[in-house]
Amino acid sequence: MTSSPSHAPPLVDHQVLALRLRGVVKTFGDLRAVDGLDLDLRAGTCLGLLGPNGAGKSTTMRMLTGQAIPDSGEIEVLGFPVPQKSKQARARMGVVPQSENLDEELTVRQNLTVWATLLRVPRRHRVKAVADAMVAAQLVERADSKVQTLSGGMKRRLLIARALVHRPALVLLDEPTVGLDPQVRGDIWTLIDQLRSSGVSVLMSTHYIEEAERLCDDVAVVSHGKVIARGTPAELVGIHAGVEALEFFGPPVRLQRVEDTVAPLGFSTRRTGPSVSVLRAEALPQHVVDALGEGSRRAANLEDVFVLLTGERLAD
Ligand SMILES: Nc1ncnc2c1ncn2[C@@H]1O[C@H](COP(=O)(O)OP(=O)(O)O)[C@@H](O)[C@H]1O
Ligand SMILES: [Mg+2]
Repeated sequence: MTSSPSHAPPLVDHQVLALRLRGVVKTFGDLRAVDGLDLDLRAGTCLGLLGPNGAGKSTTMRMLTGQAIPDSGEIEVLGFPVPQKSKQARARMGVVPQSENLDEELTVRQNLTVWATLLRVPRRHRVKAVADAMVAAQLVERADSKVQTLSGGMKRRLLIARALVHRPALVLLDEPTVGLDPQVRGDIWTLIDQLRSSGVSVLMSTHYIEEAERLCDDVAVVSHGKVIARGTPAELVGIHAGVEALEFFGPPVRLQRVEDTVAPLGFSTRRTGPSVSVLRAEALPQHVVDALGEGSRRAANLEDVFVLLTGERLAD
């Protein structure tokens, strides 16, 4: 998105908070969808909200934009208290919703122009702002195509470009790659990574581990409306899941035997379809490893962290 003549990185003070949430609660009837959420997003970094469906990610996003009002707690967005000053905050943030709401009858260029107008991009900057957004989203060649003729991946890129047309300081992305095939997902990752490199603050929700691991400086693991762990992906893995896992494949009886062997020794396991992984396997005594038979070692990952912390699986 950057059009500055020099390629020097922008000066961003990472001590400044782009987002600050304290004790935020949102209930729907008896359900505490967001249950005392604390979050800090340092300016110029990417924070991931990692949690399964129903964890409260979209509800949190909606409270940041003033579309939902918290029952209690404090929210500051770019220094503005929300919902009191959500208008001011909204003017400086870009929002990519979980579900597409593009105007299918309009072209790519028309969609971006309408949005630039709504977001009060001054008339004299509008054509350039729209052109820059199309370059960032790699949609220049489709500028005059109606949205209804675009592929799913192109629509998703347009949705992101639309949120950037007024050069926001903060971008919220709610599950930006859900339902996309791996190739398209990679394109979106590149786009998000460029955004962050250009100094924009990013809050992204996801239930894809790999997405959080690749893109986020910090990850907040959320479950049932609460942050249950917070850190860089590497810190989270190191603290909660150790160094490596030992993974065994085979028929159910084989997997069961692995679980029965290590459970009494205090080791956690997790099933992934046809396999079972013994977590923190670096601490297994050698005679136990020998008794378990042939397995393969792999590095511990964020999914292991999630399972260890919540007993739940994320997705897919
Ligand atoms: N408007 C609403 N009315 C009632 N329940 C809701 C509403 N919005 C969300 N919920 C419930 O709140 C919980 C959190 O939802 P959501 O924030 O969409 O989770 P996520 O985005 O992490 O999947 C879910 O149990 C969901 O069914
Ligand atoms: Mg959601």
